Amino acid sequence: MNERACIIAIDGPAGAGKSTVAKHLAKHFGFLNLETGAMYRAFALKALESGVDLDDAAALEQLSRETSITLEPVEGGNRVLLDGVEVTARIRDADVTQGASRVSVHPPIRVWMVGLQRALGRNRRVVMEGRDIGTVVFPNADLKFFLDASPEARSQRRYEQVSPMDGAGTGTGTGAQVHAAIAKELRERDARDRNRAESPLRAAPDAIVIDSTNMSLNEVLTSIEDQVRDHLHLPVVNEEL
Ligand code: DC
Repeated sequence: MNERACIIAIDGPAGAGKSTVAKHLAKHFGFLNLETGAMYRAFALKALESGVDLDDAAALEQLSRETSITLEPVEGGNRVLLDGVEVTARIRDADVTQGASRVSVHPPIRVWMVGLQRALGRNRRVVMEGRDIGTVVFPNADLKFFLDASPEARSQRRYEQVSPMDGAGTGTGTGAQVHAAIAKELRERDARDRNRAESPLRAAPDAIVIDSTNMSLNEVLTSIEDQVRDHLHLPVVNEEL
């Protein structure tokens, strides 16, 4: 049995399937699953609730000193606590989603988050998912994946995940309106996440890039599982898909 510390990094744009893959890998190989996006989301919620301007880096930095964020890996995902209060569901709302992308452009916020994330992963066996895990948080990760898909495929998948009735927090409307709102939200986040000056979203030079545009979920999972087995020689602890 290989029980040494081990980091598997999974980066990529919104809607590329990172969470599904990370969850699956963690279960399959008995690792902890840590979703770093949830931490940026929790901080965005704090800023929204505190009335702090999401573009004011100095005010956000001050706010970060009064903020505690805890990620608890649980069956099927992460439980997120903001200042001791559970916010797991609330941070998936549309206002927080855009807010997370906005607060994450500020260097002091990224430095703080990276420190927290390194502490969470240190000496553990984790699948860590985000935008800069393989490039900044753990540049020496044991294995890195960059999961990508076309903007059309990603917004289509997001659309299929949500009921047209609730529009995943994008407001009510016809199927076409909800689809358009999701596509717009993804485009805005893509632009911000890829073009920010500090740690923009990009694949690490040594990441395995998987474009899942024309792949089924099962094909993606099988391909990633095979790479993990081949590169890291890890024992499988849970066979089920
Ligand atoms: O993965 P997610 O959709 O939960 O991430 C929400 C936002 O947080 C995303 O638009 C950009 C930011 N983020 C980041 O900048 N770095 C990370 N490692 C994870 C997320």
